[in-house]
Amino acid sequence: MCGIVGYIGDKDAYPIIIKGLQRLEYRGYDSAGIALSQGSDITILKQKGKVSDLEEYAADKNRKGTIGIGHTRWATHGVPNQKNAHPHSSGDGKLAIIHNGIIENYDSIKRMLSEKGHEFTSDTDTEVLIHLIEEIKNHEQCKLFEAVRLSLNEVIGAYAIVVMEEGNKEEFIAARKGSPLVIGIGAEEYFIASDATPIIEYTRDVVYLEDGEVARVNRNEKLEIKTISNIRKNPYIHELEMSLDSIEKGGYPHFMLKEIFEQPSSVLDTLRGRINPETKEVKLGGLMDYEQKLTKANRIIIVACGTSWHAGLIGEYLFEDLARIPVEVEYASEFRYRNPIIKENDIVLAISQSGETADTLAALELAKEKGSTILGICNVVGSSIARLTDAGVYTHAGPEIGVASTKAFTTQVAVLTLMALKIARLKGTITTSNFRNMITELEMISDNVEKVLKSNKLIKEVAAEFKNVQNFLYLGRGYNFPVALEGALKLKEISYIHAEGYPAAEMKHGPIALIDEEMPIVVIATKMGNYEKVVSNIQEVKARGGRLIAIVTEGDITVKELADYVIEIPECSEQLTPLLTNIPLQLLSYYIAVMRGCNVDQPRNLAKSVTVE
Ligand code: AGP
Repeated sequence: MCGIVGYIGDKDAYPIIIKGLQRLEYRGYDSAGIALSQGSDITILKQKGKVSDLEEYAADKNRKGTIGIGHTRWATHGVPNQKNAHPHSSGDGKLAIIHNGIIENYDSIKRMLSEKGHEFTSDTDTEVLIHLIEEIKNHEQCKLFEAVRLSLNEVIGAYAIVVMEEGNKEEFIAARKGSPLVIGIGAEEYFIASDATPIIEYTRDVVYLEDGEVARVNRNEKLEIKTISNIRKNPYIHELEMSLDSIEKGGYPHFMLKEIFEQPSSVLDTLRGRINPETKEVKLGGLMDYEQKLTKANRIIIVACGTSWHAGLIGEYLFEDLARIPVEVEYASEFRYRNPIIKENDIVLAISQSGETADTLAALELAKEKGSTILGICNVVGSSIARLTDAGVYTHAGPEIGVASTKAFTTQVAVLTLMALKIARLKGTITTSNFRNMITELEMISDNVEKVLKSNKLIKEVAAEFKNVQNFLYLGRGYNFPVALEGALKLKEISYIHAEGYPAAEMKHGPIALIDEEMPIVVIATKMGNYEKVVSNIQEVKARGGRLIAIVTEGDITVKELADYVIEIPECSEQLTPLLTNIPLQLLSYYIAVMRGCNVDQPRNLAKSVTVE
């Protein structure tokens, strides 16, 4: 999730843009850059690291210009470094672009442009886009506004872009699809940004660009907006009411709630470009060179910590169930010290949101020393774990600011599902019809995540009932046993209520002694293989006076008669239920913690990334 800031007017653009980029620091990033012009050529200043590193780099450079565009990059294509930082230039250096989003078909466009003689200096999809705009502008002999519009008709993916042109300090062109862009309207000046945070101190009059719209922002004229199909649109001017702080959280009271509600888009972004729209086959570019190793693997050893370890447990069920590969899931902190046995055809897979967790990094280093192939699933491009692994797959969850992991977990499970389906397909351990059914369900999963989030109000009411309890039990079976563990972790780490997750059948081996009316139980009882057995576990709990919160498949009537509270999720294959059942548990933990007055985004004693032992 990158940050975009642009300015055009009669003031110096540099300080306004730098301050705007600092306002967007909450979005997380790994490099920053700015393009400025006084009407002649374009000066581009960019640097790996923070905005402060860019300021230090720019201190003795030409920073003049009343038009400028600035960018903070959260890498998706190409590791974080100066050459991959935005802005990017066209081949002739006359155009500069900043971009937030993912161009899915950039490799085919890059091949076409290379055949026409274009040369590229970075690994990014963004540079391909500005070369495409240059190619079309020169070929069609048209103005920049039209060249951008025509180019975007060739693009598949998500984008928020701002493009400026050498020799034109009066206007820049902006466009969006799938990534936000806000235009601030001042007195003979315009501002543009990914959200209103950098704009609100200058003007409260804003226009939100809609998906598929292209804008010509000229400081001497009224805003001109068209769709990429060339239909004129009248800009609708909003007056901003939100505070700066609430804008950073997207209007939510906490980053954690914002990130829970971002899951429809973060799951969509993680799947984007990884299911071929025509063939419906799974394409994981980062693992292409290791597909054979994965299909021939004797065992996959997953190493992770915390929430990522729970995602790894779901990976175990997926890889064994679908791809018939034995899996072992290890706490990285244990694995690294127990002199583990790693055989030649074993593959070690690390899962880490931050890519910096010390125990997971050390476990990987041990596996590497023992000659193992090491793969990774990370959310931070260019992180230590990502750089250490032989190959891997990035989750495109965007920065996760809340210490309690939510959207990172769901996108890790989405990647593991894609990996298991890919290997199962290659090995022939899944029938074509089952494969196609699951792909179809995956393509709908973002809508179903959206549906589950609609239980938000009900879950808040349930939370009010249980906010003062001292203990909680979470039960699940099969694919939802790890979800029970994750639900318990979420509750304890942000509300400080003690909670334990168990396989539902394990109750009778001890924990059932804990059950009484003071011990609420969350049970995941979705329609799946061992549903009837879960129902009998529920009856055992009820017989002992336990109060029950059940997560069920919509339309369930059996559990509804037994449970005190029921939260429904849409029907889906058993393998995909964790992508949905974990969401009500995130919301339950969030609301209980808020009602207990806990610091939800920064819980006591916790760090977002445990980079020490
Ligand atoms: C989960 O909510 C916690 N933030 C914590 O358990 C976390 O999952 C763990 O520290 C692993 O972090 P990583 O995914 O960045 O490696």
